[in-house]
Amino acid sequence: MKVLLIGTGGREHALAWKIASSPYCTRLFVAKGNGGTAEWNVPLIPDQPSSVLAFCKSETIDLVVIGPEQPLSEGLADTLREAGILVVGPGKAGARLESSKVFSKAFMEKYHIPTAKAQYFLREDYDEALLFLMQQPLPVVIKVDGLAAGKGVIIANNHDEAIKALDDIFHEDSFGPAGDKILVESFLTGKEVSVFILTDGKNWILLPEAMDYKRAREGNLGPNTGGMGAISPVPFFTQSLKNWVSENIIEPTLKGLREENIEYRGFIFFGLMTDGEEARVIEYNVRMGDPETEAVIPRIVSDILPLLKDAASGNLSAPALEISPRAAATTVCVSGGYPGVFEKDFPIQLHGKHQDILYFHAGTRMSDNQLLTSGGRVMAVTGLGDTLEDAVKHSPEGADAVQFEKKYFRPDIGTIY
Ligand code: AMP
Ligand code: GLY
Repeated sequence: MKVLLIGTGGREHALAWKIASSPYCTRLFVAKGNGGTAEWNVPLIPDQPSSVLAFCKSETIDLVVIGPEQPLSEGLADTLREAGILVVGPGKAGARLESSKVFSKAFMEKYHIPTAKAQYFLREDYDEALLFLMQQPLPVVIKVDGLAAGKGVIIANNHDEAIKALDDIFHEDSFGPAGDKILVESFLTGKEVSVFILTDGKNWILLPEAMDYKRAREGNLGPNTGGMGAISPVPFFTQSLKNWVSENIIEPTLKGLREENIEYRGFIFFGLMTDGEEARVIEYNVRMGDPETEAVIPRIVSDILPLLKDAASGNLSAPALEISPRAAATTVCVSGGYPGVFEKDFPIQLHGKHQDILYFHAGTRMSDNQLLTSGGRVMAVTGLGDTLEDAVKHSPEGADAVQFEKKYFRPDIGTIY
């Protein structure tokens, strides 16, 4: 099978690594990849669907796997499917679960999927939104409707912060059209877990769950980031909670999609807030998480390529996925200053290799045989172990062995806060 994988991050390196290990994979291309996927990279631009389609035709690609949300929300999967190409990833309609928080909230309410109570406001409803915000218990959560690269959620601890957020979005236009609508949502408490399925719209496979460390600094402090680390499995995600989530969240979501006539083939990432033996949906994502994928993929023993193809062709017969009993912990080495301003183009050295440590590149590129930093999140280092404690110990050891100027990583990935 000839496979084209779209994306540039650590998530895509982990997926590429797994797909390339399949005996069914005869050729892999990654567009446009990073320094870690250099052997598979092609300089295709995913926001030009016609050039992706032309490439698929000229290379007779059998399967396209779309990693990030942006090309999904722009309808790349639709363009490819209309031309008869198998794709993992929803079309534009399904991608609205992530690309419009107002749509996804209305969807959850319609299909009785547990989530935080919310009210939406348009830009012209500023006065009404302000009045509503002032009446809400604190903290209160304000979300811009559209995609905002993980920056569109503001948790206001007092009314001044809430008013500032409202002004930023509606008056300063800090989020552009993504901020034409907002949700004002009640604050949920509990522990977060990232739950993933692969589905053909009807049948689905539960992948290993993960926990993401979103805050920039040790102790879960500092600003939100794309993710500074992850662990899998998650100790509090018990079998009974898993069953509850399947029955009350996963099944109703797939049923809702079918009732809306949205054909959905791809991954769904349920961002959940758990509270004892129940959970509520914080958000849907229409793709795998990053850096969660770097902890989840190494725990999957089964060959995922046939499953990806079955999901893409609508024939996923829900086989049991073989999951390793081993644990994984991922620490992300970032450029100093991230998620704010940071420098790029520093040379990267990797000292020593260890069989229980995997290096998934994110913001790296190769230039004249030298690996250079090229982004905020540079490398995701996954430690494996027979227990979560072992995995959590290996991960920062691996992160220590990655060297570049102004490197930073959180040394506390694995602590349950
Ligand atoms: P999102 O982009 O929707 O995933 O939100 C980013 C982060 O904000 C989530 O991972 C949560 O940590 C937090 N968050 C979002 N919505 C809520 C909520 N209603 N209550 C508490 N925390 C939230
Ligand atoms: N790590 C969270 C995300 O991928 O959205």
